[in-house]
Amino acid sequence: MAINWYPGHMHKAKKEIRDVIPKMDLIIEVLDARLPFSSENPMVASLRRDTPCIKILNKSDLADPQVTEQWVEHINRTSGMKAIAVNLKQPEKIRSILTMAPAMVPQRNLDISQLKAIILGIPNVGKSTTINILANRTIAKTGNEPAVTKQQQRIKLANNIILLDTPGFLWPKLEPEACGYRLAVSGAIKNTVIEFADVAMYLAEFMMAHYPQALCQRYQQPTLPETGIELFDLVARRRGCMRRGGIADSHKVAQILINDFREGHFGRISLETPAMVESEQATLLAAKEAAR
Ligand code: G4P
Repeated sequence: MAINWYPGHMHKAKKEIRDVIPKMDLIIEVLDARLPFSSENPMVASLRRDTPCIKILNKSDLADPQVTEQWVEHINRTSGMKAIAVNLKQPEKIRSILTMAPAMVPQRNLDISQLKAIILGIPNVGKSTTINILANRTIAKTGNEPAVTKQQQRIKLANNIILLDTPGFLWPKLEPEACGYRLAVSGAIKNTVIEFADVAMYLAEFMMAHYPQALCQRYQQPTLPETGIELFDLVARRRGCMRRGGIADSHKVAQILINDFREGHFGRISLETPAMVESEQATLLAAKEAAR
């Protein structure tokens, strides 16, 4: 998958984070609950050391609740880490982070000093929405396009917590390659820098393997075909996207599949599970070893 990144922004964000993380009492990372591994910023794990970390699995309203539970348990097994699954319709649950945070930094006496927390999140995971709810006022501009929040900001929250917000452009994981596809499906990677039909084919094959019933329901089919290409043809026929000569218009079909996913028309879908990610990591490691 060809992706056109912006090395200038990446370099600046990397330097800022590297400088600032050691000064923080707490890291708050906003993730997309549908892909909590792929939507992590790879630098957080390497820079965190033993700084406590809250992982917010946001957009839980769109994710498979059983898989989200698995992720919460999985993350909570890491020392110093707490996961919470939330969505924008649960402002009180999001604000419970303001009482969770001091408990994770017991050495800091909040009567006499502030708790310094940094909030991180790759584009489109809902970081701005979360900040606004935590602050109980509109702070950061929100939107679907990456890089909307440009300046570092310090936001005063309740309980003597100071929240440092970093620039919006944080790069996501692109390895294994499946992470890139899942990020593209979710909308975290801009539509203009991806091969739309490839991403939709990834989604089609993933849905056929993991959520076939959701496809049957959405496209009113008693059964599904065997391959992703056949599914493209089926969607093209049902949605009037056939070109002259009886060939499916793959760009239009791709848009339909991806929009149906992003708008939740397939129901609550998670794109990765802890077991799936562990197996992909093992395969990647084995491939790297073999290439040495
Ligand atoms: P960012 O700062 O991480 O880039 O994300 P931002 O808060 O701007 O949110 C990106 C999009 O995700 C917004 O939609 C926002 O409404 C949506 N969103 C955030 N949290 C949730 C959630 O818990 N559930 C769901 N379903 N959506 C969420 P948008 O269409 O770009 O903007 P808007 O029209 O909603 O304002």
